[in-house]
Amino acid sequence: MILSIESSCDDSSLALTQIKDCKLLFHQKISQDEFHSNYGGIVPEIASRLHAQRLPKILENLKEFLDGDLSPIKAIAVTTEPGLSVTLIEGLMMAKTLSLSLSLPLLSINHLKGHIYSLFINQKESIFPLSVLLVSGGHTLILESTKENVKIIAQSLDDSFGESFDKVAKMLGLGYPGGPIIEQLASLCKKEIYSLPTPLQNKTLAFSFSGLKNAVRLEIEKQGEALDKHALSYAFQKTACTHIVQKCKRYFLDKKEKGEAIPYFAIVGGASANLYLREQIETLTQSFGSKLLLAPLEFCSDNSAMIGRVAVEEYLRGKFSDIKNLDISPRSREF
Ligand code: KG4
Ligand code: ZN
Repeated sequence: MILSIESSCDDSSLALTQIKDCKLLFHQKISQDEFHSNYGGIVPEIASRLHAQRLPKILENLKEFLDGDLSPIKAIAVTTEPGLSVTLIEGLMMAKTLSLSLSLPLLSINHLKGHIYSLFINQKESIFPLSVLLVSGGHTLILESTKENVKIIAQSLDDSFGESFDKVAKMLGLGYPGGPIIEQLASLCKKEIYSLPTPLQNKTLAFSFSGLKNAVRLEIEKQGEALDKHALSYAFQKTACTHIVQKCKRYFLDKKEKGEAIPYFAIVGGASANLYLREQIETLTQSFGSKLLLAPLEFCSDNSAMIGRVAVEEYLRGKFSDIKNLDISPRSREF
């Protein structure tokens, strides 16, 4: 089995994945939402210190699960990019310590590749080539992925999709993470009152959320006490999702023009838990005859199970890292 570690943002998580059939044997994650809620976003220093406390606690639980016998573990996998430098380093230090003390090889895993493989947790089979919409707190990407390579087709020019939910929630004084809070408020909207401008209504294959965020701010200022938070959450979610769907449609049309098929399209990342977005993209993929793949809701947000699933592939390919040279990379070097 492989022991995998995830600490790229605010989730401390460890997993054990069986190499022969990719079965998830152990998985525990501790989130930090309550500590960052007052700030409306992640405070890296706080996140780093919480990882330092919590990763060893989860390791204790993992050891208990194995009755203290760590011999079935054949490699240590850890997220090294992209992410917050002060939190990535906590996971990497634990990985290096385990690798040295247990004389086990190290696998350095890309977090975004992890999100793609969240589709294939607990199963040996995977589906490639695959087109992917990755929506998280750090990224909004359209990707084309084979088993080995990931190509970026479109990205955000400014804020990410998930981040825009976090910032709108912050403006409304609603805490962190904003995604689930805004989605919940939007579902309680009784009447469509506000209309917000859909970003980048042109042919470019890129995303932008900062203009929409600003439009929300102006509406909050304009409405003052009269503001209906349910209706504004609804208008924001609808516009942000319309923008995503329009750009995905452009991608499908571009491929169609080139005579290239998209048999499978997936949505992954923390914000792929948004049910409104899932519905809208499902309608789109159906209209183009493409099959939509989704990860189980519990594996949409950051977790070490997805890191362990990629790690099995890297292990079987022998892609080990040298402990002396292995470092973190806050920005992605490669997939
Ligand atoms: O993938 P993830 O757990 O962490 C990163 O790698 O960034 O994604 C977290 C992001 C946060 O911005 C959060 O607000 C957003 O995903 N998110 C959502 C929803 N659930 C989480 N955004 C929109 N709707 C949701 N239901
Ligand atoms: Zn993530």
